[in-house]
Amino acid sequence: MEETLDKILRKYSPGKKDALIPLLQEIQRETGHLSDGSIAEVSRHMNIPLNKIYGVATFYDQFRFGTKGRYHIQLCRGTTCHVYRSSVLLKDAERILQVKAGQTTRDGKFSLEIVNCLGACANAPVMMVNGKAYGDMTREKMGKVLMKVIEIAK
Ligand code: FES
Repeated sequence: MEETLDKILRKYSPGKKDALIPLLQEIQRETGHLSDGSIAEVSRHMNIPLNKIYGVATFYDQFRFGTKGRYHIQLCRGTTCHVYRSSVLLKDAERILQVKAGQTTRDGKFSLEIVNCLGACANAPVMMVNGKAYGDMTREKMGKVLMKVIEIAK
């Protein structure tokens, strides 16, 4: 993990504040989430105060701070899915799963992640559960899928 982080950090010049989001995105892509340790390393390397980094990372709900849950739910907020009101689905998913986007439930069962495009725009809005895609989602359809997942997870 440390080696991966070092490799990523070396690609970004210290002090370049506009590189912060791409850097955090790359760390998340490679390690699955943003740990306190990796954020501290970013702060040291980029010479950006910790609170500034947390401020940026918490502003964008694409970032995850915990490890994935046993059931990892991804909701697409890419342009097409956004047009098809994926933001309403997100609110429902947060309520049903009792978890905020970018977080994992305390029992480790569920994690919810916002993603930019799941590559299935023709079936927008799209969500994935542990890599299985569900397209043409409505509030009702998504509710049924999530209730089934909750049932299985018991
Ligand atoms: S924008 Fe959602 S799948 Fe492409």
